[in-house]
Amino acid sequence: MPSVLTTTTAIGTAPGGSSRKEEAMSSCKERSGKNTKSWTPIVHLNVGFVVGVLFVLLTFLVFSQKAAISGLNVATTVAQPSIKGPGETFVTSGVQIQGSGGSAEKGTVVYNTKGGYSETCEVDGDVRINCSALSVFLVPTASSERHEWSILPYSRKTMPGIKNVTVAQLQGPAAAPACTVTYGVPAVIFALGGLTGNFWHDFSDVLVPLFVASRRYGGEVQFLITNMQPWWPEAYRTILRGLSKYDAVDLDGDEHVRCFPHVTVGLHQHNGLSIFPEWVPGGPLSTHDFTRFMREVYALPRDAPASLVREPEKRPRLLLVHRGHSRRIMNEQEVLRAAEAAGFEAVAVDFRRDVTVDEQARTANSFDVLLGVHGAGLTNLVFLPPGGVLVQVVPYGRMDVIATLEFGLPAKEMGLRYIDYEVRAEESTLLEMLGPEHPAIKDPDSVHRSGWDKMTEFYLDKQSVRINITRFAPTLAQAFDCLRQQ
Ligand SMILES: *[C@@H]1O[C@H](CO)[C@@H](O)[C@H](O)[C@H]1NC(C)=O
Ligand SMILES: *[C@@H]1O[C@H](CO)[C@@H](O)[C@H](O)[C@H]1NC(C)=O
Ligand SMILES: *[C@@H]1O[C@H](CO)[C@@H](O)[C@H](O)[C@H]1NC(C)=O
Repeated sequence: MPSVLTTTTAIGTAPGGSSRKEEAMSSCKERSGKNTKSWTPIVHLNVGFVVGVLFVLLTFLVFSQKAAISGLNVATTVAQPSIKGPGETFVTSGVQIQGSGGSAEKGTVVYNTKGGYSETCEVDGDVRINCSALSVFLVPTASSERHEWSILPYSRKTMPGIKNVTVAQLQGPAAAPACTVTYGVPAVIFALGGLTGNFWHDFSDVLVPLFVASRRYGGEVQFLITNMQPWWPEAYRTILRGLSKYDAVDLDGDEHVRCFPHVTVGLHQHNGLSIFPEWVPGGPLSTHDFTRFMREVYALPRDAPASLVREPEKRPRLLLVHRGHSRRIMNEQEVLRAAEAAGFEAVAVDFRRDVTVDEQARTANSFDVLLGVHGAGLTNLVFLPPGGVLVQVVPYGRMDVIATLEFGLPAKEMGLRYIDYEVRAEESTLLEMLGPEHPAIKDPDSVHRSGWDKMTEFYLDKQSVRINITRFAPTLAQAFDCLRQQ
């Protein structure tokens, strides 16, 4: 569209602007010059820095240092193959404990803490749950050894405020409680609360791990929820219904002894929104499969972005995620105009206002590009058509690693193109607020070293950005170019 290109050129008025633009537009993936930096965090994750970041992240969640190291391993090497036997490496593996007969009838408990974020037990056989006690019993047909596990049924195993579930392999049938409700389908026990209520955590901590745990059952599975927050299953009704044909049971105060042929206790978070196919029980599923499932359950019409080849007259649509408090884009209107000038139909959307997740999913799916400052709103990437583009504006303060782990890597696994734009100090409101000599401006690493609280205070809570449009124009051009290639 000549008129659009003319406008784009007009935007790149600074000296050298147009040559940078051409560079950026030469390829969707590769950029030379200054902007190449935006890809480096993905290619070479700075290992020391990952340790630092994960450490503060995990400390915040009262994680043990051991977990932080396991987390590091997952973050940097991605899918580890399953390793059997305890204590072999820091990627703790599934420990399988079987009754002496070893037959299916005797039952099995598979304890799993791969990745270090979560702990789960897969209990197979004659499984009985004393719901009021949150006790899960595996009942052997003949006498066997007693084993016991204590599982926190939230996908971050040290989350405060969540009651543990005890899993016990009984010594014999005599000690088993009598069933009051018997099911022919398996069950998954998980907790709400924790960090849910934040859109990213709703997905990373519950929905993605629940998909991993239950997709294999094709809807024939019973969910059992502890620490119930009634708004939550209501908000995610469409997804829960897509995974289970049955209404979830609220275990809090439930007096029954519920019996199942198989129970999964707890949810296994692989790494944020990412799914490592090798770790999925019952067959490989990927992060891409999760977004395919989103399109299926929400009946989202678009599974490819606008094609500039087939419909050259059509403007691809760019959604700018509006944020109300921290990490706002101070010059949002200017950014929208720049996006229009780059060839997009650009719209700012505020998802916080009483929008149901169903509506939100449909809205996000109608766009080709999702643009926003690092934050929960970018989780709408799960609804984008594959081949769409995520443009993440990374706030000032060495936030690149967190940004990459939470959105950049999953975006790629979902089949999206990912572009990041790292804000410089001059574009951050922190510079004006704190002055150039403040450690948060001069030495972001020192802020990260001083812990999660300081890091969030400065870089996540106090910061907003004023994007330098001249500097940002090549990023918009690159996003446009990604769509041009398909
Ligand atoms: C379930 O556990 C509670 C609390 O430990 C106990 O009082 C109750 O007797 C148990 N129910 C059965 C059927 O064993
Ligand atoms: C609850 O389970 C976690 C592991 O999932 C464990 O670290 C913790 O000690 C348990 N808490 C209690 C009170 O048993
Ligand atoms: C905006 O970015 C351009 C290109 O990097 C730079 O030349 C210019 O000085 C920046 N403007 C401001 C106000 O920082």
